[in-house]
Amino acid sequence: ATIIILNGPNLNLLGVREPGHYGTKTLEDIQNSLELMAEDLGHRLDFHQNNAEHEIVEHIHGALHNQADFIIINPAAFTHTSVAIRDALLASKIPFIEVHLSNVHAREPFRKHSYLSDIAEGVICGLGASGYELALQAAHQILAERN
Ligand code: DQA
Repeated sequence: ATIIILNGPNLNLLGVREPGHYGTKTLEDIQNSLELMAEDLGHRLDFHQNNAEHEIVEHIHGALHNQADFIIINPAAFTHTSVAIRDALLASKIPFIEVHLSNVHAREPFRKHSYLSDIAEGVICGLGASGYELALQAAHQILAERN
């Protein structure tokens, strides 16, 4: 299956950015381990990071046009602000898992609200980079059960 992985603003700075919250792995490290895992599971990954909201919206439109099977998204700060990303995901009807490296519930109160969680298949937060791998494993299982 084709699985799209979307990463929001500032995640290009992983590794140097607030390692206490986000760990020391870079986004490239995360991408490399996901690519290996996807190959083992027999999936094709399409991995992106964007600092601009409209670029994420356009990747979701692209996923719809290309009939992608699943989306794993860490919307970063847009989690807490973006009706546009919510609407794009609703329009696409593609099932998705929301991932956060940090435990957003143990931080500032404004991080507790997500515009996406209620329409997600599931949400993983607080488990660092392994959250992405757990999401890929779960996507694999969900797709296997539906096919
Ligand atoms: C984040 C949590 C968000 O609140 C924050 O704005 C981020 C990263 C995470 O992965 O923990 O940029 O999505």
